[in-house]
Amino acid sequence: MKAAKIKTLLETSELDQSYAVQGWVKTFRANRFIALNDGSSLKNLQCVVSFEQLEDTLLKRITTGAALHLEGTLVESQGEGQKVELQVEKIRVLGDSDPEKYPIQPKKHSLEFLREKAHLRIRTTTFAAVMRVRSALSFAVHKFFQQEGFYYVNTPIITGSDAEGAGEMFRVSTLDIKNPPLNEEGNPDYKKDFFGKETNLTVSGQLEAESYALGLGEVYTFGPTFRAENSNTTRHLAEFWMIEPEMAFYDLTDNMNLAEKFITYVLKEVLKDCAEDLEFLDERLAKEDQSKPQAERSPMRLIEKIKFVIENDFKRVSYTEAYEILRNSKPNKKKKFQFLINEWGVDLQSEHERYLVEKHFKCPVILFDYPANIKAFYMRRNEDEKTVRAMDILFPGIGEIVGGSQREERLEVLEKRIQEMNIDAEELWWYLDLRRFGSVPHSGFGLGFERLVQFTTGMNNIRDVIPFPRTPQNAAF
Ligand code: 4AD
Ligand code: MG
Repeated sequence: MKAAKIKTLLETSELDQSYAVQGWVKTFRANRFIALNDGSSLKNLQCVVSFEQLEDTLLKRITTGAALHLEGTLVESQGEGQKVELQVEKIRVLGDSDPEKYPIQPKKHSLEFLREKAHLRIRTTTFAAVMRVRSALSFAVHKFFQQEGFYYVNTPIITGSDAEGAGEMFRVSTLDIKNPPLNEEGNPDYKKDFFGKETNLTVSGQLEAESYALGLGEVYTFGPTFRAENSNTTRHLAEFWMIEPEMAFYDLTDNMNLAEKFITYVLKEVLKDCAEDLEFLDERLAKEDQSKPQAERSPMRLIEKIKFVIENDFKRVSYTEAYEILRNSKPNKKKKFQFLINEWGVDLQSEHERYLVEKHFKCPVILFDYPANIKAFYMRRNEDEKTVRAMDILFPGIGEIVGGSQREERLEVLEKRIQEMNIDAEELWWYLDLRRFGSVPHSGFGLGFERLVQFTTGMNNIRDVIPFPRTPQNAAF
């Protein structure tokens, strides 16, 4: 008999029919009730075995973590807590599990402990819920852009350029690091390396996406990006996934409108598609909140927060306005900020972003027109010569979730900027070509996918929303 998914059995299957299911044992109570889960649903299927059916040897093999194939009849449940249950007629153990050694016991484990068991943590209710939401979100991302007429492009993972100019790249090389060939200056000779030049893992697909937007019109990437920044925070990964739409003929306002519409759409989709998982995560977060001091508790529950973002417009504020708000804010005057705001042009830290979003505006905020000298070389310069057409979207509990801009489409302005910032123009010859042949105003942004998953699931640490996190000093699994 072909096994059915537990989700199907719980939601739509007819009673008093025979079914097969397979999954992993969550718990086995009273030598009678197996709670089986196959990943298809938050809920387990209660499978009832009768004593007489079980030889002692088989009984011992039904333990938390073991994999089973069961056949039986689906009936209305006698007990409380579930509508249906499987009256088991046949049991096959597909994979034994040593109950003494299996790390995922039927009790609450800390997230830190589970991070060390990342290969098994997906068997917990919380991680399964988070990863189902993650999957639904990524599908919603594609659905949105496909419906809007965007083309999905795959930009290279190995590149020679540093799009963000922050120098935080992982080198890609096949040279023998103990004994590299040297050039005349005594440095490693990358001409002899695999690609005949220095290469690294990409920090962003934007530059290549720009090339494609200036031909296909509206495109998006959705792929892994890599940053060798030594940030040990709950918001940073060394390997993360980014969604980067890039659109010809869009100015900054069009760009902001798209970003807002996009985020609202994907959140609506998961509210619809992952209702059960989100309710569980909502409850989980509320419980966690209860154990915190009053001042640190969230003013809204998870689902409420998602709905709030869907229903309310994002507040659009220029850097200069935000600067004034921050400069005059209580924590700044009382020197509560770690980085005080006292000079126009300073970069905003996450404490400032969170103040704006969580304390001042109390809603998602789009900051735009940032000082040129704290932003990347490719952003379009404003008339004032001091600011660029940048925009960051800031979210409650997360801080920056999106970074984007209108791009500098004027060749001379871009060339000048590249020179001022001491960027290797040679590496960007093709990017400059885009400004030589049919250049048009265009814009785009990058959304950090894990930060979106964090917001949607309420998980506090970014390491808990990607299957196998890569962070400084950690690339296990
Ligand atoms: O602001 P960033 O650096 O922008 C870019 O890379 C642009 N090229 C995007 C574009 O315009 N096409 O990064 C974009 C987003 C951030 O807002 C943040 O959400 C996420 O990527 N991000 C990270 N997420 C996890 N770990 C990190 N280390 C991240 N760095 C950035
Ligand atoms: Mg940014």
